[in-house]
Amino acid sequence: MALETDFIVIGSGVAGLRSAVELAAAGARVTVLTKDKASESNTEYAQGGVAVVLSDDDNAELHEEDTLVAGAGLCDPEAVETLVTEGTRYIKQLIDWGTEFDREGGRLVFTQEAAHSRRRILHAHGDSTGKEIVRALIARARAEKNIVLMPFANTESLIVRDERCRGVRFLDPILRAPRELFAKAVILCTGGAGQLYQHTTNPSVATGDGMAMAYFAGAEMADMEFVQFHPTALNIEKAPRFLLSEAMRGEGGILRNKYGERFMGNYDERLELAPRDIVSRSIVAEMRRTGTRNVFLDMTALSEEFLKERFPKIYETCKMYDLNIAKDLLPVSPASHYCMGGVRTDLHGRSTLAGLYAAGEVTCTGVHGANRLASNSLLEGLVFGARAGAAALADSAGLDLKDFKETDDERRAANDEPAPDGLATAVRKRVKRVMWERVGILRDRDSLTRALREFEQIARANLSVSSRNFVTLARLVAAGALWREESRGGHYRLDFPERREDFRVHSIQRKDAPMKTSERINFEQ
Ligand code: FAD
Ligand code: SIN
Repeated sequence: MALETDFIVIGSGVAGLRSAVELAAAGARVTVLTKDKASESNTEYAQGGVAVVLSDDDNAELHEEDTLVAGAGLCDPEAVETLVTEGTRYIKQLIDWGTEFDREGGRLVFTQEAAHSRRRILHAHGDSTGKEIVRALIARARAEKNIVLMPFANTESLIVRDERCRGVRFLDPILRAPRELFAKAVILCTGGAGQLYQHTTNPSVATGDGMAMAYFAGAEMADMEFVQFHPTALNIEKAPRFLLSEAMRGEGGILRNKYGERFMGNYDERLELAPRDIVSRSIVAEMRRTGTRNVFLDMTALSEEFLKERFPKIYETCKMYDLNIAKDLLPVSPASHYCMGGVRTDLHGRSTLAGLYAAGEVTCTGVHGANRLASNSLLEGLVFGARAGAAALADSAGLDLKDFKETDDERRAANDEPAPDGLATAVRKRVKRVMWERVGILRDRDSLTRALREFEQIARANLSVSSRNFVTLARLVAAGALWREESRGGHYRLDFPERREDFRVHSIQRKDAPMKTSERINFEQ
């Protein structure tokens, strides 16, 4: 007996939870499949905060302008306008649902981050903004009796028939067996792919599964070459790269080299608050110049009392490594952090494949262009999560679920997938290393060609679905980066260091089709 529901949401970060609530509040049955426990996501670890127009000296035009500048000529202006104008309403709603952003004397407090012309970043419990948002959204989702939240349900592929997405194949956590679930529409909210790189701020769930699933299902992928590297991840030998929030530099943190010299002035007049890609490249240049593997974040001009209160999670985590953030210089280096590229969607989360919607970091909506403005992605997850839910609901009116189930024969054929490989760990390790060394902060034709050759070789082995997904995604990033013979936003080519007007277009990749370009992300369906 095939399982069915009205709508499937994959992922329980900000985008997935917000879209599930949108659907369930309208009376639809929603199943949320998520890979780990419900709270495990990039959202959970978001530190700095969420950018929103709410302070007295701010307005939507300023937020829009900052976002467009950061996006380096590749933002979709309509998508940005949607984000900044609708964002305020969704944040107010989140507050109504119980999210406790930090306040002083009852008034919301705003912090500063790079490339924002105003202090417009709301935060919670100092540096645990994502955790607080997830807490409030899970509580809100649990209040909807139509939402079934299924943790530890890893989804591996989408079911497509007659050019429409009709459901998913996932690993049932109780039966410990693959199962199919059918629905009128699937909303992909699986987040980013920071784990493609050897060094990343992302948790282990961020392997880009949704992007690969959408690609194999036939959806278009856009701007895969644009990856954001965060400048300041704590660099301790063998430890995971824990993020030291940009808000630390916003509050006055300084970057120093191994000689204790403040070096950002040699690279950009905006110093430590230059855009992320510039700070990351400056750090790499400084590390090369001084022959070191890290630089230092210096917070010692601020009092311990302030830092402990403002950055409690960071304070405690650094203490575990015997570092006092108020007294010690903190070793940092860049790490992969965010994917600007992803599943191409219109302004309502529709992908180019009927029945498949997407929201959050898995997408390319046109909001971020070539480089995301800090703290814009939690907002994007809320706004476009809600929009994708609403569009899936409206588009499915009149559809009958019984038309969506496959026959047993069709299912057996679809299940004819590659055997599990015993190489999964080795494959991932190799791909991550190649991505870091050859498809990283600095790229050129030679490094990208070599990376692609290696990925093609790995892909020839008899891989499991998840290994195949992983290496395919790596190939999409490298192929986009090789095609883009310019430097723009998060993508830097040593052999093409300038921005080129003829490349002010989006790269579009689709399975079994040559790379194409488009002037806009948004499309008519
Ligand atoms: P996620 O929150 O990543 O959720 C993805 C969900 O999909 C997870 O539940 C995951 O388990 C599930 N999933 C993945 N694959 C599968 C699968 N195969 N089957 C089933 N489920 C699956 N942004 C900001 O705006 N402000 C910040 O301060 C900020 N700080 C950050 C700090 C860190 C350390 C990191 C890593 C990111 C930060 N970001 C920040 C970025 C931001 O957190 C993310 O872009 C955003 O939360 C993404 O939300 P999402 O819902 O799209 O995806
Ligand atoms: C940070 O706190 O530095 C991360 C903010 C973001 O990625 O938007």
